[in-house]
Amino acid sequence: MLQGVSIKHLNQHLGEEVMLQGWLYNKRSSGKIQFLILRDGSGLVQGVMVKKEVDQETWAKANSLTQESSLRVWGIVREEPRAVGGYELQVTRLEIISLAAEYPITHKEHGVDFLADRRHLWIRTPRQSAILRIRSEIEHALREFFYQREFVLADAPIITPAACEGTTTLFEIDYHGNPAFLSQSGQLYSEATALALGKVYCFGPTFRAEKSKTRRHLMEFWMLEAEMAFYDLDDNMRLQEEMIMFVIDRVLHRCREDLKTLGRDTDRLASISVPFPRLSYTEAVELLRQKGVAFEWGDDFGAPEETLISENFNAPVFVHRYPTALKAFYMKPDPNQPEVVLGADLLAPEGYGEIIGGGQRIDDLTLLEQRLDEHGLPREAFEWYLDLRRYGSVPHAGFGLGIERTVAWICGLDHVREAIPFPRMLYRMYP
Ligand code: 4AD
Ligand code: MG
Repeated sequence: MLQGVSIKHLNQHLGEEVMLQGWLYNKRSSGKIQFLILRDGSGLVQGVMVKKEVDQETWAKANSLTQESSLRVWGIVREEPRAVGGYELQVTRLEIISLAAEYPITHKEHGVDFLADRRHLWIRTPRQSAILRIRSEIEHALREFFYQREFVLADAPIITPAACEGTTTLFEIDYHGNPAFLSQSGQLYSEATALALGKVYCFGPTFRAEKSKTRRHLMEFWMLEAEMAFYDLDDNMRLQEEMIMFVIDRVLHRCREDLKTLGRDTDRLASISVPFPRLSYTEAVELLRQKGVAFEWGDDFGAPEETLISENFNAPVFVHRYPTALKAFYMKPDPNQPEVVLGADLLAPEGYGEIIGGGQRIDDLTLLEQRLDEHGLPREAFEWYLDLRRYGSVPHAGFGLGIERTVAWICGLDHVREAIPFPRMLYRMYP
């Protein structure tokens, strides 16, 4: 058996001799003692090797270790409040698995382009590893939330014949001589699975050929999309706030060390409670005007407006009932106010902007056909979708949560590029 114990679980082995495998993150030496900082993907621990307590060969091996060499060490676990993670390993034996060549990412500061070119290595640093562990926790929490509520996970296709979120951001591919597109959203398929299964979600990569070079836009991002038969706009918002609370609670309880590594102000997250504030688009425009922004009713909010709106609140805020012209073809008009739709975006606090887009869908066949025409969308490609209104149409609603923006907010990151293992951006798809 090749497995040893993981650094994360050292606290269960106080006083015992254990074997650890990992990589050398850093080292210091006083001549008589070598301090080896090891990482294994679950955390960092300091290994202490005392010259007079080990044989010459072991000492020499430790001496020869370069940054990011892979190794196996044996030692006794001790409590050490001053060391990283609170424990240290009194090293008795050491085996080098592979001595690393000179490592490009040193413990000095590096520019972000330099790091982005080496993303495959950059993810080994404590901060990046912490983010990826939190992302994993968030994804797991989301799946569990929906599992507990008896949603069916119904995966949507990636290769699609038509647009869901407007034709300007489509990535076109060649599908055996015919044009096809990478999915912008699984929603239309989730509407079909919701009419088959009631409450569903899909979770996968989605693609947008965005010409935006901002801290919030990726070309490939992951989206969790839920769709529920017999849900209206209010039901939809209630489900979303419960979901966000579930995720925050999970991360606060299970990722304490990682949040500390990131220096995240967790009070900001812990103070969030339901219900989240709800503002209509029209009220949000009023709020902007009160803040001295000259804003026209009918214009879309950009990042600065979203920040101004959300900074009034501690919790994420729903903005609902946007002007019809701003939103996708499938959004149901408000019967009391037909110039707006029953859609809502959820804006995260601290200037992170929109993390969820969603709403109630048009359930009437004639209106949906009319909207397809108005949006210049080809009827043939949507015949199957129109069938959903022909055969037992029901009121239904759903939403899509952008994972990277959610990770960026919960981790307190400056840019979504750090919220995904390998970001795809306007001018970067390497490595
Ligand atoms: O608001 P969007 O475009 O909504 C939809 O795609 C709906 N069809 C979802 C649904 O109702 N099932 O996108 C949803 C979320 C946004 O709120 C944002 O968090 C994220 O997806 N998102 C992006 N994240 C990173 N980079 C991009 N280019 C993104 N575009 C959208
Ligand atoms: Mg949106």
